[in-house]
Amino acid sequence: MNKIILGVACLALTVNVSAQTMRETIGKHFLIGAAVSTRNIYSQDPKVKSAIVNNFNAIVPENCMKGEAIHPEENRYSWDDADATVKYAEDNHMTVTGHCLVWHSQAPRWMFKDSEGKTVTREVLIDRLYHHITNVVGRYKGRIKGWDVVNEAFEDDGSYRKTQYYNIIGPEYFELAFKFAHEADPNAELYYNDYSMSKPAKRDAVCRLVRDLKAKGCRIDAVGMQSHNGTDYPNLNDYEASIDSFAACGVKVMMTELDINMLPSPQHFGGADISQRFKYDKTLNPYVNGLTKSAQKLFNERYLAFFKIYAKHKDQISRVTLWGVSDADSWLNGWPVPGRTNYSLLIDRQYNVKPVVKDIIKLFK
Ligand code: XIL
Repeated sequence: MNKIILGVACLALTVNVSAQTMRETIGKHFLIGAAVSTRNIYSQDPKVKSAIVNNFNAIVPENCMKGEAIHPEENRYSWDDADATVKYAEDNHMTVTGHCLVWHSQAPRWMFKDSEGKTVTREVLIDRLYHHITNVVGRYKGRIKGWDVVNEAFEDDGSYRKTQYYNIIGPEYFELAFKFAHEADPNAELYYNDYSMSKPAKRDAVCRLVRDLKAKGCRIDAVGMQSHNGTDYPNLNDYEASIDSFAACGVKVMMTELDINMLPSPQHFGGADISQRFKYDKTLNPYVNGLTKSAQKLFNERYLAFFKIYAKHKDQISRVTLWGVSDADSWLNGWPVPGRTNYSLLIDRQYNVKPVVKDIIKLFK
C-alpha cells in the first residue's frame, strides 16, 4: 500500500516539475522576458498568447516604441501599437521595458533635418530630443518599469559612435537624454543598452559612461547586454567579466535581447548592427527542414552555458529577455541574410517550449 502511495506521489511530483515554466521558476530570481511584435500582441492564436503569458513575466515591444514608429512626424505620434502592448502587459501581469529613446537606427526620419532639408542646429536637436523623450516617457508614466534610454552609442573599440546625435550635440547628449527621461517619469528605471558588450574596449567605455552619468547626478539603474549570441561567440569568460564589471560600477545587469544564431556567418559578419546585409546563398541556410542532431546538441549546450552564467550571477542580474517569442518570430530569419530559417529561441515554430528549457529551469532550483 505504502509503495503505491509513494509511486503516486512521485508521479505527481514529476508531472508538477515538468509543467513548471520559466516564469514560475527563473522568474523568482530575475525578470524573464521576451520581445513581442505587434503581430504577437494582436494575435488571435491561443498558442501565441499562452507561450507569452505562461513563460514570461516581462515584455519589450520589438519595434513599436522606436522613434520612427512612435513619432513618425514632428507633430504626430502614433500611439496605438504601444498602447496595446502596455495594456497587454498589464492585463497579464507582466512588466514592460520601453525600447528605445535614443538610437541612430530606426530613428524618427525628420529628427535631424529642417524643413529645407538642412541639418538642424544643436539647439534644435536638443529641443526635439526633449519633446520626444518627454512625450513618450510621459505618456506611459507609472506603467513602464524602465527605459532603454540610449542604445548602441559606442563602437566596439570603445570610441563614440558618430551618430547624428553625437555629431550635432556632442557627448553631452547622453546626460541630456537621461535627465529628460528622469524628469518625465522619476520612478522609471533607466538603462544603457548595447551589443558586443563582452569586448573589453566596449565594456570599459560603458563603465566610464555609467560612472560619468552617476558623477553628474543622473539616474542609471542597469546596463543591458543585448546578447545576440552565436555558437562560437562571445567568449564566455569575457561575457562573464562584463557582468562583473558592470555590476562593480553600481548598476544591475540585464540580458536584453538574448538569442543564439544557429546559422553560418557570412564573411565579415559581426556584432548586431541592423544595417548589415548579406546576399542570400543556399549554403548560408542549411537547416530549412530542421536542425541536425549535432546542431541541436550544440544549441542545447550553448543555451545551458549562458543560463549557467545567469544562475551564477543572479544577484547581479535583474532581467533576461529573449529577442522574440518563438523561432517563427525571430528577426534572425531575416537578418543579416534575408529568407533564412533560424532556430534562435527557446520556443519553436509551433509555439512549443523546447526540451532544453527543462534543464535550464533545473539550474535555478
Ligand atoms: C530589430 C527587430 O527585431 C527587427 O524586427 C527590426 O527590423 C530591426 O531591429 N538591436 C536592437 C533591436 O536594439 O531593437 C533590434 O531589433 C535588433 C538589434
